Amino acid sequence: MTELATKPTSSRLIGKPVQRKEGREKVTGAAKYVDDIDFPDMLYGATVRSTVPRGKILGIHFGEGIPWNEFTIVTAKDIPAKNCVALLIEDQPCLADAVVNHPEEAVVLLAHPDKYLLEEARRAVRIEYDPLPAIFTIADSLAKKEIIWGEDNIFKSFLVEKGDAVAALASAEIIFEGEYETGAQEQLYIEPQGMIARASPAEGVAVWGSLQCPYYVHKALKGIFGLPSERIRVVQTETGGGFGGKEEYPSMIAAHAALLSWKSGKPVKIIYDRAEDMAATTKRHPSRTRHRTGLTRDGKLVAMDIDFTIDGGAYVTLSPVVLSRGTIHAAGPYLCPNVRVRSRAVATNMPPHGAFRGFGAPQSVFALERHMDRIAETLGIAPGELRRRNFVHQGDTLAVSQVVRDKTDMDQLMTRAFDLSDYHAKRERFQRTNAGSGAIKRGIGFAAFLHGAGFTGSGEEYLASEAAIEATRDGLVRVLAGSTEMGQGTNTIFTQIAADALGIPADQIEIVQPDTAHVPNSGPTVASRTTMIVGKLVESAAKAIQRQLIESGVLAPGYAPEEFAPACARYIAKSGALKSLVKYKQPSDLHWDDEKYQGDAYGAYGWAVYVAEVSVDTRTAEVRVEDFVAVQDVGTVINPVLAAGQVEGGVAQGIGFALYENIVWQQGRMVNGQMTNYIMPTSMDVPPIRVHFEEVPYERGPAGAKGIGELPLDGTAPAIANAVAHATGIDVRSIPLTPEALAEMLELAHA
Ligand code: MTE
Ligand code: MOS
Repeated sequence: MTELATKPTSSRLIGKPVQRKEGREKVTGAAKYVDDIDFPDMLYGATVRSTVPRGKILGIHFGEGIPWNEFTIVTAKDIPAKNCVALLIEDQPCLADAVVNHPEEAVVLLAHPDKYLLEEARRAVRIEYDPLPAIFTIADSLAKKEIIWGEDNIFKSFLVEKGDAVAALASAEIIFEGEYETGAQEQLYIEPQGMIARASPAEGVAVWGSLQCPYYVHKALKGIFGLPSERIRVVQTETGGGFGGKEEYPSMIAAHAALLSWKSGKPVKIIYDRAEDMAATTKRHPSRTRHRTGLTRDGKLVAMDIDFTIDGGAYVTLSPVVLSRGTIHAAGPYLCPNVRVRSRAVATNMPPHGAFRGFGAPQSVFALERHMDRIAETLGIAPGELRRRNFVHQGDTLAVSQVVRDKTDMDQLMTRAFDLSDYHAKRERFQRTNAGSGAIKRGIGFAAFLHGAGFTGSGEEYLASEAAIEATRDGLVRVLAGSTEMGQGTNTIFTQIAADALGIPADQIEIVQPDTAHVPNSGPTVASRTTMIVGKLVESAAKAIQRQLIESGVLAPGYAPEEFAPACARYIAKSGALKSLVKYKQPSDLHWDDEKYQGDAYGAYGWAVYVAEVSVDTRTAEVRVEDFVAVQDVGTVINPVLAAGQVEGGVAQGIGFALYENIVWQQGRMVNGQMTNYIMPTSMDVPPIRVHFEEVPYERGPAGAKGIGELPLDGTAPAIANAVAHATGIDVRSIPLTPEALAEMLELAHA
């Protein structure tokens, strides 16, 4: 039986701007975010945090004037089992005990019914320290100025080798070097972090909150309370954005709320305000990348030696996987016979840095794409021409020796991006007009890049994600998955995939709220994996129930949409539940070697070329992005409005990363943790973003789709930096290019 025979073609939903599934609830205010939920007799929880970057805790003092007997007070010694937030490596305590390793580390928890009195109490707790020397920079950590973690401050390191980069560099006609830096960046989801917990030895632990990965929270709570899986329940409430920032930290808040509830016997709600969220939770890893590149005189890459370092903060958290992705993406979409990438994540006494959209790739791609532009300038080759001479094509191998299977055509993407942005004409025109005496200089620049979708290497195989589809007797189809909606469109995409596979209308699909008591573990909602990996499971599960209906004779192939519900009723009356659970199976032709760090790093990549046009006021050193063109191949587009939204949002965050978002650190603490002094782009700072998809269906993706979520963050900042370099002649090597930073660069250039 062919697929077409069972799929009524009239109801195809793929490629249609189907309305956001939860859109009505969101815009009418009916959607319940964690702070909209109250339980009877609920307490509020607050966190007392460290004020020093590193030190021994000598004592905890509870100041006068507070009715302390009304408060529930929790410290490390109240933790029932293990004082550790389990994720990759078990080094991060849930509450600091004896020592603190970064500012804003949680030490004491308080709960009280009155949240105003709670805040006064929080201020009245004084923790006494014996300070220890601390380090705050990649350089100091690498130099082992102090050993603050393990034996050498190194959380994780990788070595990727293809050919012999050292030998090839020794005989290269041209050698070009550069060092690049990127800063930390706050995710700035609209809804700050928060959790409600109900926990007791009798009932176990249940939490409701804003989160990306229900089963990460589940795992952490199991360890902290020493309870079996079935006594822990994690429910995702409507989530106002995550961007990676709600991958790991929700486990911490969930544990805190649960510990207070466990001790008080009452439900406890902890909601961070913006200042606490910015100060205490994870941010994008600051990075430093060094390139040594060997080329022929006509610009063919012969060797790339890349050294990539990220600042992980005080505990490991997700640094190894952020480092991994940054490492694998460091050599970009280029064919080079000899590549060496050495990378490491190092410890500093800052709050741990964590996942942020792109997962290390925006950092290493920034370095590479600035480096490529600088090479082009030095060799006198047009930047586009230099890329064209080096792009990988189908059948070529990437740095990790992965043979590219995607029918990728970077030349075509670049040509399209240049046409849409009028790149060549503008580049020439700006060059001419910039030579004049006007203070406003214009520039146009681009970046070419790729982004792997799904977990790296054997990651998807280990995750072994599951998703299920279940139909009721009235033909309502439920999608059961632990994948979360955080604005990126999970609910709508799953709806479209399931409805399309079954040939029924979208409103016949229901997405079950992620709740570990009811949904299978479909893996974390990260790494742009939801559509491509979990969406495929949803599609397969939908097809499986369709097959069951047809094979049992209650539904004829080529059925009309209205025949589906009666068929479900007949099937369920005859045979019982109509349900299918599908588990991910690694395709047998994907191989990954964890030791050598070589092989099929990702099942598929998104490919893109982004062009930015900027104006720079050389008097105020302000940069404006005037125009932006984003061309990409992410396979089939399932929902054009949501897909364009992913690109527009990603470009906006990339503009922030490139130009505005600057964290001011003092002794490891963020001191501009307010939206008045941590400047992010507003709608006034975002130009028209022209989004174009070259749709090349990916045969293993659901309806041909690949991942899209993170890709837009990778190329935006380097495209802008290249445009600023074009406008001003400044050799941009670091971002953010705040007016202060750019003013200094302009002064240096004219000194
Ligand atoms: N888009 C919105 N609106 N909100 C988000 O929190 N997170 C991003 C991206 N796009 C995010 C978003 C990040 S970090 C990732 S990894 C992907 O969405 C995750 O979702 P996906 O697997 O559905 O792509
Ligand atoms: Mo995204 S940084 O993988 O949540």
